[in-house]
Amino acid sequence: MQKIIYIVNGPNLNLLGKREPGIYGDTTLEEIAEMSKNAGKQNEININFLQSNDEGKIVDWIQESVIKSNGLIINAAGYTHTSIAIMDALLSIKIPIIEVHLSNIYKREDFRHHSYLSRAVNGVICGFGPYGYIMSINAISNIIDN
Ligand code: DQA
Repeated sequence: MQKIIYIVNGPNLNLLGKREPGIYGDTTLEEIAEMSKNAGKQNEININFLQSNDEGKIVDWIQESVIKSNGLIINAAGYTHTSIAIMDALLSIKIPIIEVHLSNIYKREDFRHHSYLSRAVNGVICGFGPYGYIMSINAISNIIDN
């Protein structure tokens, strides 16, 4: 059966390419979606690539992912550091989960050093820019297959 992965992106990531390019680079979210779909194909995985600025929508997608997918990759952006609701949603599902960030959050302001999500995920990848999404797809594929 064809495997499916949800890749959920949080607030302001729709502005990638224009947003603080010194930190986040000039690759757009559409380009990251394209790269991710290609990496998915190589792993025989269909990618459902999503973005919302709305915390509730992200919680809904997490709840949906457990019914409709084999794994979840999440960049919750600013909600990483604030959202108990997203953490609770992740703790409620029993599929592999990878947390990804474009920037190295540990090299940045202190308030970015804490992630509510990390306790609910299999692993965290940060600091590798868009390539982190490819690394996450390879990592989650490995977890699903083994
Ligand atoms: C981010 C890091 C977060 O601290 C920040 O709020 C973001 C993007 C990243 O991908 O590097 O919006 O998740």
